[in-house]
Amino acid sequence: MFDTTFDTTFDTTSETQMNTSTIPNAIDYKKYPRPRSRHHVSPNQYMARERIGIEPKYYPPLYPAHPDIRWREYFTNGSAPQFVDIGCGMGKFLLETALAMPEQNVLGLEVREYAVRWIQSVIEGERPSSRLGNAQALWYSVPNGLGFLETGSIEKIFYFFPDPWFKKRHQFKRAFTPEFVQECARVLRPDGILYLMTDVPEVDVAQREILHKHGVFALEECRSDEAWGLSVRTDQEVFSQKKNIPYTRTMCRKKLSV
Ligand SMILES: C[S@@+](CC[C@H](N)C(=O)[O-])C[C@H]1O[C@@H](n2cnc3c(N)ncnc32)[C@H](O)[C@@H]1O
Repeated sequence: MFDTTFDTTFDTTSETQMNTSTIPNAIDYKKYPRPRSRHHVSPNQYMARERIGIEPKYYPPLYPAHPDIRWREYFTNGSAPQFVDIGCGMGKFLLETALAMPEQNVLGLEVREYAVRWIQSVIEGERPSSRLGNAQALWYSVPNGLGFLETGSIEKIFYFFPDPWFKKRHQFKRAFTPEFVQECARVLRPDGILYLMTDVPEVDVAQREILHKHGVFALEECRSDEAWGLSVRTDQEVFSQKKNIPYTRTMCRKKLSV
């Protein structure tokens, strides 16, 4: 869960580096010193900008809506992304998925600016050796929608280990809302998949309830790696595995056109 594991996620000597060092052509994370931080961002940043009323000084930028967004500024091949990692944290899954699938553009969205800046430093550091031209992270808060993504264009959306925000008064910070699910349904292709992982049963129940009410996704809980089909692990997943914390993996297939 977020509060107890974030230190590990941001540790410069974390598992991530040890695990990936065994992968051929893995990123040498030692070249990119990680920032250390334990802080959540200001509560305003978890809300849509129009809900706040005034624009706070430190608020993630909004991006031009499709078709005005210029993907050439973000991806070497100039094309739009096919995969989107929402709440990508320090980007392990995003970067390693992009490395493993160089034909797919992978976009990470993250509300913590320093995490995005660090991911961008890795991307910039690797691009001279013709790697990670297909990876990008944007400083962004998802309650603002996914207007920069074309309807029906995305193959896979990843939404892994969201912050649980247990206390009732903090739950407005949860990004998984009916509006969020509708945006996912809109941008996914007819055969697109929303992948979910969480180690918080309460979050799993809340997300399932929203998905069932929405009605556009067929849910499949994946107990085997084979059913799940994704070989790259997120930072939080590595932590859960190491500490024997159970977590659920759910594939949500878009079943109707929206
Ligand atoms: C517990 S971390 C999980 C990181 C990563 N997905 C993983 O599995 O290791 C949850 C991430 O979601 C990000 N997040 C929370 N609310 C967000 C929002 N409104 N927009 C974008 N990212 C958000 C947090 O900053 C944090 O990095």
